[in-house]
Amino acid sequence: MAEPSLDDLETPPTAVAELAAAALAERTGVARHDIALTLGSGWGRAAERLGRTVAVVSAEDVPGFSVSGVPGHSGTLTSIELEHGLHALVIGARTHFYEGRGVRRVVHSVRTAAVAGARVMVLTNGAGGIRPHWTPGTPVLIDDHINLTAASPLEGATFVDLTDLYSRRLRAIARRVDPSLDEGVYVQFRGPHYETPAEVAMARTMGGSIVGMSTALEAIAARESGVEVLGMSLITNLAAGIQSTPLSHAEVLAAGKEAEPRLADLLARIVAAIADDLAAA
Ligand code: HPA
Repeated sequence: MAEPSLDDLETPPTAVAELAAAALAERTGVARHDIALTLGSGWGRAAERLGRTVAVVSAEDVPGFSVSGVPGHSGTLTSIELEHGLHALVIGARTHFYEGRGVRRVVHSVRTAAVAGARVMVLTNGAGGIRPHWTPGTPVLIDDHINLTAASPLEGATFVDLTDLYSRRLRAIARRVDPSLDEGVYVQFRGPHYETPAEVAMARTMGGSIVGMSTALEAIAARESGVEVLGMSLITNLAAGIQSTPLSHAEVLAAGKEAEPRLADLLARIVAAIADDLAAA
C-alpha cells in the first residue's frame, strides 16, 4: 500500500500526522512533546532560550513537512527539554496559505504536534499593527481572530466551537510574565501581497487590530485537535495606510531581527510559566 499522503484526499490528514509524529519520536528520541511552538518572523531566536536542545530535525525528514520557501523561516523541527521533564517541539517550518499548497499542509504541523502529545500550542507571527501606538517591535497577545481567507482546515461537517480559541488562561499566564502585554484581534488575509489601506480600514471597522497571513487557520486546527492555543504577534510594521510609507518584506525582517533577543527572552519566560502550570496540573 502507498504511504499516506496529504495530497490524497481519500486519506484523512491525521494519518499523515501520525506518521510525522512517529518519525519525530524516532529521530529525536523523545516519545512525547508537551508544548509545541511555531516561530514566525522575529521569534526564531526563542528556541535556544527555552531549555536544552535535544535534537534538530530537518523538515524534509518528517512526512508531510517541507523546507519553507519564505526567508526568515528555518526549515527545522527542534526538540527541547524544559523544566519538570517536559519537552517542547519548536516548529521552524511553517507553510503559509498563500503558498497555494493547500490548507492541509498549512495545518500539518499543528496536527503533528497534537499527535505528538502537545497540550499547548504557541503560535507566533510577525504582523502589521492597526493601533498607531504599537510601534514596530511591540509584542501583542492575540485574543481572537477574523479569518478572511475564506478557507477552513476542517473537512466535512466538522462543527467546531471557536469561543475562547485563544485561551484566556494562557493569556493570563503571559500577562503575569509581562503585565505590559496588550491584546488584539488578529485578521488573517490570504496574502502574499500586503493589504491595501482600504482593506486595513475595513479590518479595523470589523474590530481587528492586527493584520497577518498565518495563525488563524492553524489555531482552528489546534482547537479541532483539542490543543490549547496561545497566539502572539510581533508588530513588525504599522499596517498599510496606518503608516504612510510603503511596506516591504525587508522592513518586516529588519524589525524582527531587531526585536529577536527581547522576544526570545519574553517567550522563554512565558513557556517556563506554562510548563510550571502543566507540571502542577
Ligand atoms: N500585513 C500582513 N502581514 C504582515 C504584515 C502586514 O502589514 N507585516 C508582517 N506580516
